[in-house]
Amino acid sequence: MKLWKGRFSKEANSSADAFNASIETDQRLYKHDIEGSLAHALMLGRQGIIPIEEAEAIRLSLHEIMEDIEAGKVTFLTEREDIHMNIETLLTERIGAAGKRLHTARSRNDQVATDLRLYQKEVIREIQDLLSALAAALDELSGQHKETIMPGYTHLQRAQPVTLALHLGAYNEMFKRDIERFGDCYKRTDLLPLGAGALAGTTYPIDRHFVAEKLGFSGICENTMDAVSDRDFAIEFTACCAIAMMHLSRFCEELILWSSTEFAFIEIDDAYSTGSSIMPQKKNPDMAELIRGKTGRVYGDLFSLLTIMKGLPLTYNKDMQEDKPPLFDAGDTLKDCLEIFTQVIRTMEIKKESMEKAVDSGFMNATDAADYLVKKGLPFRDCHEVIGKMVLYCIGQNKRLDDMTLTEFRSFSPLFEQDVYEAIDVRKRATKS
Ligand code: ARG
Repeated sequence: MKLWKGRFSKEANSSADAFNASIETDQRLYKHDIEGSLAHALMLGRQGIIPIEEAEAIRLSLHEIMEDIEAGKVTFLTEREDIHMNIETLLTERIGAAGKRLHTARSRNDQVATDLRLYQKEVIREIQDLLSALAAALDELSGQHKETIMPGYTHLQRAQPVTLALHLGAYNEMFKRDIERFGDCYKRTDLLPLGAGALAGTTYPIDRHFVAEKLGFSGICENTMDAVSDRDFAIEFTACCAIAMMHLSRFCEELILWSSTEFAFIEIDDAYSTGSSIMPQKKNPDMAELIRGKTGRVYGDLFSLLTIMKGLPLTYNKDMQEDKPPLFDAGDTLKDCLEIFTQVIRTMEIKKESMEKAVDSGFMNATDAADYLVKKGLPFRDCHEVIGKMVLYCIGQNKRLDDMTLTEFRSFSPLFEQDVYEAIDVRKRATKS
């Protein structure tokens, strides 16, 4: 039986019913939906909009429904379309007329927006915790590798020596920014749409601030049309997820490179690696690759939401029911990725010697050699030229810069003195950065 059947003269076509339904996806909002209804019913009772005893009956029954859902005793029905009407129908089945009064001064339009914001606030907190755990794992690892030197790259070519702590610290900055970004998104999520009605508010003497306080919102959405048609908060959240995934994905790309035989900088723990069904020697960095791949999915979620919203006239349009799959997927995917990635980081082995060995070749102290001449008074551009010639010479001789004798150094510039060896010491340089 449809809650909106009054105006209709025939039953809906069953495939239209199935097509229209969102219960498959939005049933996970049951807790938030009930929470919203509890606050709404309490307010209706307090304001004398419904009898206080009925508000109480609604409260008790909604709690029971919540318990029954959690105990797996409730079957949601497609013909009841969505989580809102499934719960309302259950309520009416259980307490009759009082249940039918719950939807006074409310529309599913402000209801769904409220549910989504409650849900999103919760997920933001979970994501921030996971990001903090990752940042802590990185801090710990960095602490152990303040003296571990490795090549720093530009263009994926060895550039200048750095420490592993500096490299890991760069990612930590990104994850800390992600935590802040989600915090900013939280502020804009933290406003209550309920009370906006379908779009134009309501004529009942409702108390939106009371409901906001009950539900833990810091304020209310002021414009009722905006309250029901805004999905910026979801788009912003998904954008935050996409950015965090991009950071994870870059890091994963490096772990994949670093675990190759060519780099051999790390070894990913067996528990987080997979083998090949044909090549017995293989140990593949599947977790990192999957995170890199799932980044594409989350970008897709962001684009789905942006595209769903781009042509919609105010206010609610059914297109907006399609907001849930991408919104849920973005949060779920990021949470899964953060959890597994943190474990990969915590368990991987750092091959310090290979990192340090890689610093030995590649003339990564060439810039420091140029800076040495600058300090001796030569203009930087001339220094660059001198050192370039020295590098070319060394390549021909198959040696490193610091293998050259002082006489060889001086054949390129009389400004070189004994202290050049200290100035181009890669270890000293890396630990200064
Ligand atoms: N299931 C709907 C959604 O998720 C709830 C809102 C329906 N509103 C309406 N006016 N049909 O968007």
